[in-house]
Formats: sequence, C-alpha cells, structure tokens
Amino acid sequence: MRILITGGCGFLGSHFVRAWLRRHRDSTIVNADCLTYAGSLDNLEDAAHDARHRHERIDVADPETVEGLFTQGFDLVVHFAAETHVDRSLEDAGQFVRTNVRGTENLLAMSGQRRAGMARPAVIVVSTDEVYGPTPDGTRFRTDAPLSPTSPYAASKAVADRLSLAYARALDLNVTIVRSVNVYGPRQYPEKVIPLFTSHAISGCRLPLYGDGLQRRSWLYVDDFVDGLMRIAGDPHRRREHIVWHLGSHDEPPNLELAQTICELCDADPALITHVADRPGHDRRYALDFTETERVFGWSPRTLLRAGLEETVGWIKANIEWCRRRTQWKPSFLRGE
Ligand SMILES: NC(=O)c1ccc[n+]([C@@H]2O[C@H](COP(=O)([O-])OP(=O)(O)OC[C@H]3O[C@@H](n4cnc5c(N)ncnc54)[C@H](O)[C@@H]3O)[C@@H](O)[C@H]2O)c1
Repeated sequence: MRILITGGCGFLGSHFVRAWLRRHRDSTIVNADCLTYAGSLDNLEDAAHDARHRHERIDVADPETVEGLFTQGFDLVVHFAAETHVDRSLEDAGQFVRTNVRGTENLLAMSGQRRAGMARPAVIVVSTDEVYGPTPDGTRFRTDAPLSPTSPYAASKAVADRLSLAYARALDLNVTIVRSVNVYGPRQYPEKVIPLFTSHAISGCRLPLYGDGLQRRSWLYVDDFVDGLMRIAGDPHRRREHIVWHLGSHDEPPNLELAQTICELCDADPALITHVADRPGHDRRYALDFTETERVFGWSPRTLLRAGLEETVGWIKANIEWCRRRTQWKPSFLRGE
C-alpha cells in the first residue's frame, strides 16, 4: 500500500508514521511536510533510515506542488498538516486559512482527479472537537451536531471539515473525517498547554493559567489517539459505515487541576501557577460522544490521564533541551506583563 501522510513531521503525524511502519510492513509512506516551526525531522529520527518512508518538503497549500506529488499515485492519504495553535490564530489567521483551508482543498481536489491506470485514493482528514464550539455541561457532541467554531483556528478546521464532507457527498470521494479531542504526549510542541506547563514547572518558571482555570478539555494520550486512527485507517470496510468518526476521552479535569497535577509530578511548587488574562473567546468545554467508534472498532482510550501525564512528564524531563530549543511564543494579550 502506498500512503501519503501530510504533516508527518509534527506531533501526531510523526507518532502515526512510526506506528504505521511498525504495523504495516508492506507499506511505503511519502511524508509531505514543509517543516514549519512546529515540524521537525528530529521527530522521526528512528524512521530516517527506513527505506519505506520518504520525507518530501512540500507545502500542501501550493496547488502545483501538490499536483506534482500526486503523479506518484497513492492508495490512501492521511491528512494531518495544519497550523494548529489557537492563540496564534487569534493574531494572524491568514496562514491558518492558507494551510488548513487551501491545503485541504488542494489534497481533496488532487485525490478526486481521475488518472489513467490509477484508482482514486481514500482520504482521511484529521479534524478536531473545536469545530463544534463549546459543549454544554452534561452533554457530549455526536457526529451530526452542527459546527459552530469560535476561534479562527477552529473556523479554518471547520471549513476544511465541511469541504471534505462536500467532496465525499458531491464528488463521491472516499473521504473519512476523524474529529479528535485534545491529544497530549511526548514530542508535542511546547507552546501547547501540557508541555508548556511541564517545561515551566521543571524549570521553576510560572505556569500562566488563563482566566479562572475552570475551562475543561477532554484529554487523550497520543498512543490511544494513534491506536484509534490506525484502526480506522486500517479497516476500509468498517470505516465506510460513517463519514465522520470521533476519538474522545472521559478524562476532563478543569485546567487548574491539570496544572496542579503537573506541578505535583514535577515536584514543583503549585504557587508557580499564575492566573493571567483569559484568552479572548475561550470556550469553556469541549467533549465528544465516541460510543460509535467504541462499538464499530472496539476502540476506547486505555491510558488514564494521570498515567499519560507521568509518561509525558518523564519524557520532557529526559528531553528538556528538546523543549528549550523550541521557541515559546506568547500571545499579545500576555506580552508586556
Ligand atoms: N494535537 C491535538 O490535540 C489535536 C487534536 C485534534 C485534532 N488535531 C489535528 O491533528 C493535526 C496534527 O496536529 P499536531 O498537533 O500534530 O500539529 P503540529 O502543529 O504538531 O504539526 C503540524 C505539522 O504540519 C506541518 N505543516 C504545517 N503547515 C504545512 C503546510 N502548509 N504544508 C505541509 N506541512 C505543513 C508542520 O510542519 C508540522 O509538521 C492537525 O490537523 C490538527 O488540527 C490535533
């Protein structure tokens, strides 16, 4: 099987590439990643000498480059490449629209083209719970809930998600959309909350907690995310039961509790937790109903948050230089404090 993975040098993409190569011995992967600040070949050091994996420095938002890429012919496209940091999207959404919307549209259009002697590839688009906007307490969104994104990041992902659905319905493209809750684990870029708080706690720096710290996210450990996506990607028959699938979690602590647990695991003083101005438009809660993924694929998250945090904190402690080499960008509403 020939697979195109986009964004395979980022956090989730690199874990997925590694796991796919381990489990599918007869596959070859082209990893199209233009290596933004968030992507790095370091993330795939162990696959560097595997002849079944080839990285190509490709910008998915550039239609001509993507057209050239598709002359190779693929059986499956797994699309991770995106601008992913919500805070950055609040300051400059242009790159989010370019990569997340145009980039996805280029991949869908090229996947939909009929080429002599080649079947059209199946396409899996990695989407997010943020496309639904805030989830009321006591509920979980099902896959047919309306999309109502609030941040520019979430809006750009919602457009990509809707375009994917349109290509599936109107152009009969074999598209699957996988919406996931927040994922965490080793190699996540340290501007995201768990690696940010952990690296600060290890270094004795303050942990900037937005607003009252009572916002809640569902947290999924990266190995469970990859396991879920591998089941969906590796089973073309079952995944066609629906176009949209959810990967969720029942671990949903308020951010304040998350920060306190990280301090405890890092032996850091919880007084380092510092309330700062809330992020504009900060949604209070996201949560997904993933019972259908459990039923059809027999998938459910196996790593409890505490165990996943222990793994993540252990990795960051052992790789603190990896984190320090990566810039820690701050949004303007926190700069100058
Ligand atoms: N991490 C999460 O919690 C989470 C949750 C739900 C959905 N997602 C989605 O999963 C996907 C991967 O997220 P991540 O956390 O690994 O992101 P990441 O920021 O760690 O990695 C993104 C990767 O995409 C690459 N990229 C960016 N723009 C590109 C372009 N124009 N052309 C080619 N490559 C480009 C980057 O170089 C990087 O390697 C994204 O689509 C994101 O929206 C992530």
